[in-house]
Amino acid sequence: MAHETDSFVYRLWRYDGAPGELIPLLQSAQEHFGYIPRRAIRYISEATHIPESAIYGVITFYSQFRLQPMGKHVVRICAGTACHVSGSKLLIESVQDELGIEVGETTADGLFTLFTVACLGCCSLAPVMMVGEETHGRLTPASVRRILRGYRRKSEAAGARPAAEATTGADR
Ligand code: FES
Repeated sequence: MAHETDSFVYRLWRYDGAPGELIPLLQSAQEHFGYIPRRAIRYISEATHIPESAIYGVITFYSQFRLQPMGKHVVRICAGTACHVSGSKLLIESVQDELGIEVGETTADGLFTLFTVACLGCCSLAPVMMVGEETHGRLTPASVRRILRGYRRKSEAAGARPAAEATTGADR
């Protein structure tokens, strides 16, 4: 659990303009919100007197920072050597096309966030993709689309269920 002195509000309150304080401030904002929302950038700008545009510049420079919340399913496609020679480039293009996003982005419905990684540690299954904690190997552009559609269908079905369960639960 993060210590109180690491918290976003505490860091914002303690900010005194010392060099190198902006990055930890942005890190704590991301830890607090799960990403760096527009309002956090506004607070930071007001507290530090650093223009919002400069803060955006820092955020977009470092790949560790996200301007959008993480999707429900984090998709990691391996771009390591074994996967690359087995066609991961084509897989990445297929996933981008299927989800309508670029690497590092989240779908508008908040369902998927797409990343590429250097190696997922199961090269014998190349090309490989992980969706959350589940590993999918020996993929083709067609199978990768099928898999992602499966996750979408499951999420849609699960999305419909809570309302029905809530009604049942209330009756108990
Ligand atoms: S290179 Fe892809 S899993 Fe190792």
